[in-house]
Amino acid sequence: MALYSDKVMDHFRNPRNVGVIENPDGVGEVGNAKCGDIMKIYLKIENDVIVDVKFETFGCGSAIASSSMATELIKGKPVSEAMKLTNKAVAEALDGLPAHKLHCSVLAEEAIQKAVQDYYDRNGIAYDAAAFPKGEGCPFCHA
Ligand code: FES
Repeated sequence: MALYSDKVMDHFRNPRNVGVIENPDGVGEVGNAKCGDIMKIYLKIENDVIVDVKFETFGCGSAIASSSMATELIKGKPVSEAMKLTNKAVAEALDGLPAHKLHCSVLAEEAIQKAVQDYYDRNGIAYDAAAFPKGEGCPFCHA
């Protein structure tokens, strides 16, 4: 069996939603302490719906595929739904990731949550901080 599914290879080779959003409504950046890779997510939000999302990922193929799939999964969705996206759901949508690469998909989950948190902060929207990643332990970006 191939190490990576066709979907992982597809999203790695042709990542969707790569880039930057000018004047975003929320930005989230996280680093993976295990490997030093970094992921940044930009959100454009209108009426509480994610109308556009872009990412920049400096990382391995699994992190790029995870970012790409995660952006596809939250585009057009309400912010509250994006908050519920788990790395497990991202990995499942990619038809699986090897066990030692599952941590790469965690970056996508956390970067999205941080971008939502940034959106809340910018707009003075109250939230429960416990629902967001603390991002402890990243020696690279302290995200
Ligand atoms: Fe760093 Fe995958 S090895 S995110």
